[in-house]
Amino acid sequence: TKLDMELAAIEKGGFDHFMLKEIFEQPTTIFDCLRGRLDASAGTIRMSGVDDNLDMLTNARRIIMVACGTSWHAGLVAEYVFEELCRIPVEVEYASEFRYRNPVIQTGDVIIAISQSGETADTLVAIDKAKEQGAFIFGVVNVVGSSIARVSHAGAHTHAGPEIGVASTKAFTAQLAVLYMIALKLGYAKGTIGMERYTHLINELHMVPEKVATVLESSSRIKELAEKYKDSTDFLYLGRGFNFPVALEGALKLKEISYIHAEGYPAAEMKHGPIALVEETLPVVFVATKDAYHEKLVSNAQEIKARRGKVVAVITEDDPVFTEIADDTMSVPAADELIAPMLGVIPLQLLAYYIGLAKGLDVDKPRNLAKSVTVE
Ligand code: G6P
Repeated sequence: TKLDMELAAIEKGGFDHFMLKEIFEQPTTIFDCLRGRLDASAGTIRMSGVDDNLDMLTNARRIIMVACGTSWHAGLVAEYVFEELCRIPVEVEYASEFRYRNPVIQTGDVIIAISQSGETADTLVAIDKAKEQGAFIFGVVNVVGSSIARVSHAGAHTHAGPEIGVASTKAFTAQLAVLYMIALKLGYAKGTIGMERYTHLINELHMVPEKVATVLESSSRIKELAEKYKDSTDFLYLGRGFNFPVALEGALKLKEISYIHAEGYPAAEMKHGPIALVEETLPVVFVATKDAYHEKLVSNAQEIKARRGKVVAVITEDDPVFTEIADDTMSVPAADELIAPMLGVIPLQLLAYYIGLAKGLDVDKPRNLAKSVTVE
């Protein structure tokens, strides 16, 4: 009815789709996630779920991230960040694989379960199993009162608000914000990072909402790129280090929303297979923000160009080298390499959205997908 349509339009807050609304909400949702926890002027992070279990967490023999889909990608970013800052070995497991194997779990292992909905069946069963075997379960969940939140020993909510679009966007960046804060707290408490780096990264996190807002200002440029590349039948996404999981997430978003075949790979692995796919019609999306791997990515991109592939790159603004090599660029403000995934993913969310839109697809409810997979 007309009333239903009007109500739906109001819920979308003036945006055409929930997905676009949720992408644009990210400066606010990340801010809400940090608010009351991270105090940049005092240089502190307070999270009761971590503070109350500090001994348990800092003495963890290892941390196992358990999740599915986009939440699993957040776990992968966290693996790089926790190992770097806390020097605790981290494994990242697909919940479905973890629950059906006979995983080795010992007392002193910490499971971090990451889930937007808190209801994903595989994740829920996986943590039940690990709990029985003596692991400490820490939930990073968006939906308050959800099953995963209830069975966890402790946790931190992501405070991103309801996510309606089936493809996860704002929940992902909120998960990252929470995971960064936990890693910083543990690293500082353990002494694996000093005061200077701790304070620096707190400030970097504090600046993320504003920088995300800057990225969103370039949405019309990304819409143009979507028009240009929408008829491609395959995409390759490449990244290294902290940005490797961002490449995976970019490829997943495109698959989900545009039904275009897309694969994410660690950039150096391309030589072991994916490079065989490169030809004039293949867009290769590089997540190439400035970090310690930058020169390596430059040479990876040159290899793609030498084989006449199209290079589309997410770059740090004012990167003349990559601008020169790439056919097209999407730029984000400069940030510490640890934090850069929170910025680099935004143009990829927008690219997937605008390509889906250009193809006339139902971006909020892609075919065959469910917001929350409560059956196995
Ligand atoms: C489904 C959704 C994804 C989500 C995944 C994990 O596949 O479509 O967007 O990332 O489930 O969901 P969770 O709620 O556990 O994060």
